[in-house]
Amino acid sequence: MKIRSVIRATGSYLPERIMTNADLENVVDTSDEWIRQRSGIKERRIAGENEKTSDLAVNAARAALDRAGMKASEIDGIIVATTTPDQTFPSVAVSVQKTLDIPVCTAFDVQAVCSGFVYALSIADNFIKAGQLKRILVIGAEKMSAILNWEDRTTCVLFGDGAGALILEAQTGEGTSGIISSHLYADGRLKDLLYTDGGPGTTGQSGHIVMHGREVFKHAVNLMAQVVEEALETNGLTAADVEWLVPHQANIRIIEATAKKLKLPMDKVIVTVERHGNTSAASIPLAFDEAVRDGRIKPGQTVLFEAMGGGLTWAASLVRI
Ligand code: ACO
Repeated sequence: MKIRSVIRATGSYLPERIMTNADLENVVDTSDEWIRQRSGIKERRIAGENEKTSDLAVNAARAALDRAGMKASEIDGIIVATTTPDQTFPSVAVSVQKTLDIPVCTAFDVQAVCSGFVYALSIADNFIKAGQLKRILVIGAEKMSAILNWEDRTTCVLFGDGAGALILEAQTGEGTSGIISSHLYADGRLKDLLYTDGGPGTTGQSGHIVMHGREVFKHAVNLMAQVVEEALETNGLTAADVEWLVPHQANIRIIEATAKKLKLPMDKVIVTVERHGNTSAASIPLAFDEAVRDGRIKPGQTVLFEAMGGGLTWAASLVRI
């Protein structure tokens, strides 16, 4: 019997501390006007010093489990998309497993930077469709503030911290809900456009984000529009068949340009970048959870996730809720 991977519930978590653009004016030579005009960001959340990526992930996962009315013992897989793990190893996924008291299961992290959540969702979908796992916690969690150079105004104003989660569950029988298709890409020739200037195997430190913003911007619009078109064409759909686009939240100008290319009106696009900044792998599940909870995204609707990030990596996933 054909197995579908259905989204059972979502959850998210944002750290308490809000850092506004005005706050950043005291950190680097910048202005609220510049940040808003170039990125659409007004504020972002910053994790506490002792708050780790796994803490953010646990809170998001707990919210998803609560909303599903599911016990931690029912989970048989944990996949965390993150670029900012607590430690080089073990994975954030096993910390989530330990804190939530999830019994022995499959658990690992995925590293595809801002595309990480869509990669993780696709991996989880394949595990389920292969009949290997039944209920997987798929989490995007980031403490981007830990890898920012707080003296570099070209990057430190753009990012924020947070986590989003969903539970993907195997279902059989009648119904059309579930992950329809995912499309994952990377082009390592573009890896020097966006990277950290360190790592465990080189400097022994995580390093800080370095970004060639203007070039990344150009690639972002083209690659995301391409991969979304591929997702639609593969399934014989057009943008008119999609109720919601949930894009990676890097920059409002990228989101608007991509929507325009796809001829999607902005009232079909979920936008959180003004309040969250770029939370990398956490941005899509954070935006998705918000729109599910406030009732904009409803059962039966078709939703597109799309992302682009360091690597460069880019990805899209078409889902029926
Ligand atoms: N405040 C004030 N001025 C600034 C700031 C700042 N925070 N940052 C840069 N400037 C200045 C620059 O120095 C430059 O000055 P100059 O003309 O005197 O040299 C000027 O503003 C313009 O800089 P640009 O970099 O050309 O500005 P641009 O319009 O390209 O906007 C931005 C920059 C927001 C970074 C944009 O290029 C962008 O969004 N790029 C894509 C980022 C992205 O999508 N990343 C996604 C993946 S992230 C990941 O995977 C981890």
